[in-house]
Amino acid sequence: MNAGWRPRDVQAELEGADVRPERREKYKTKKPLGRRRLGTLTGDVTDATIRRLTELGHITEVVAELKSGKEATAYVARGPSGSVLLKLYREFEARSFKNDAIYREGQTVTDERAARAMTARSKKGLEMLQASWVNAEYAHLWTLWAAGLSVPEPLVGPRPIDYGETSPAVLMRLIGTEDEPAPRLSDARLDGEQARSAWDQSLDGMAGLLRLGYAHGDYSTYNLLWWENTVTIIDFPQLTTRANPNFSELLRRDAQSLVTSFRRHGVQADPETVLREVQRRAQGPAPEPRLRLP
Ligand SMILES: Nc1ncnc2c1ncn2[C@@H]1O[C@H](COP(=O)(O)OP(=O)(O)OP(=O)(O)O)[C@@H](O)[C@H]1O
Ligand SMILES: [Mg+2]
Repeated sequence: MNAGWRPRDVQAELEGADVRPERREKYKTKKPLGRRRLGTLTGDVTDATIRRLTELGHITEVVAELKSGKEATAYVARGPSGSVLLKLYREFEARSFKNDAIYREGQTVTDERAARAMTARSKKGLEMLQASWVNAEYAHLWTLWAAGLSVPEPLVGPRPIDYGETSPAVLMRLIGTEDEPAPRLSDARLDGEQARSAWDQSLDGMAGLLRLGYAHGDYSTYNLLWWENTVTIIDFPQLTTRANPNFSELLRRDAQSLVTSFRRHGVQADPETVLREVQRRAQGPAPEPRLRLP
């Protein structure tokens, strides 16, 4: 387990899931990033990747940079079947990347040399790690989308040999529009009824993942989009399965993060109660599958 990670204390003083929008906390509204011309912001890797994606026919144009995060930069692009969200992972550096050990525990790495390179974080190992996160994000998107969960539709695949060639980028359907990409729930303004619905959908989303045997690993309003009164879950490279010995802890941490991040929408809930409710819902009927994957 990585040393930087500690399970958060469960806040037992909060009781039930009581939605009280009038108690909404004050928060700063984040200005959306302005559209910037692509030519002014691309580096070598970005240019080369975008050229390759264009040659492969996956995109025709990159419209704007949407958001630069810790591990990836999100671009709005256009493709043959509509608007695309292009998530471009940055080059891995030995120290700056999210400590991934906790998520990788319990995974089987069949290639011993690859495993050693990744652990040693050599240049080659870091490249492999990056590719493994890109592949993991695609694989999870395909599984979840096929199962009928509310996640963006992956636009390359489902065969790994196909999406493997877009690395270090992941291409998925843009939620929202080119002019107005969907805000994260952390940035959205919701009235009481919307807050209640967003909360309910977020519990359903977590239950949907659990029914399939997954914990998101970073489940909060920062990784939930809000568009036309619908919640869409994003950001999957760190999804973990029950094979991971930290599974219960990660699930508990997700419930805690969800509760904490929903407070600004006036939702007061107890993480343990939330966890039990999610487990209960996970026993219920599954959504209609969209696709049967081979
Ligand atoms: N399919 C999508 N449609 C619209 N916007 C999206 C989509 N996927 C991601 N985004 C936007 O891009 C941002 C970054 O995506 P994501 O959370 O997957 O990457 P990240 O590297 O974890 O970024 P961060 O460090 O900010 O969490 C999201 O916060 C969201 O605003
Ligand atoms: Mg994110």
